Amino acid sequence: MSAQAPVAPAPAQGTAPAAPFEPVIIGFTCNWCSYRAADLAGTARTKYPPNVRLIRLMCSGRLDPTFVLKAYAEGADAVLVTGCHPGECHYIEQNYKALRRFQLLQRTIEALGIEPARLQLVWASAAEGVRLANEIARVTEEVRALGPLNWPAGDMVDLDAFNLDAAWEATGGEAGGPPATPDGVEPAHAAEVAR
Ligand code: FES
Repeated sequence: MSAQAPVAPAPAQGTAPAAPFEPVIIGFTCNWCSYRAADLAGTARTKYPPNVRLIRLMCSGRLDPTFVLKAYAEGADAVLVTGCHPGECHYIEQNYKALRRFQLLQRTIEALGIEPARLQLVWASAAEGVRLANEIARVTEEVRALGPLNWPAGDMVDLDAFNLDAAWEATGGEAGGPPATPDGVEPAHAAEVAR
């Protein structure tokens, strides 16, 4: 009697094949630069994945850390923070504060069991529609490879009482957190810290 190759079971009648995972990404944009870059990408018909839901803030410095955690808690698989290039913030240096918060948050979410790649920062001027579209595509691919997040926030952190500086110190960070720009880096070159 000859051996027979195993045969894959036929899908049950009436059940559709599972849809591929499509990440949900919340993108915080700055009114003066990255939101306009996204708008420019749209008017120029530059395509980017529809996985990103954009939320407009007046400035990246307006980003409260709890916005990020609440996004994860409510089902986002990743958060993308965007803003004006260092030195070009319309509110002087608020994007340096955004950079500092981003650094604190990346370490904090890692301590909470969330991969740091699920929080990304991209600088984009109003003229950089193509660049922003490319970065959205890159982030989407990275998050798709990570898979769904399904963060059980309620068991881990009280979002209403969340304090980023305290969380940073609880993860072993020095009091006061990182500087807005790393040592030896001129503000004009801080863009190299992010993308
Ligand atoms: S105005 Fe765009 S980051 Fe501040």
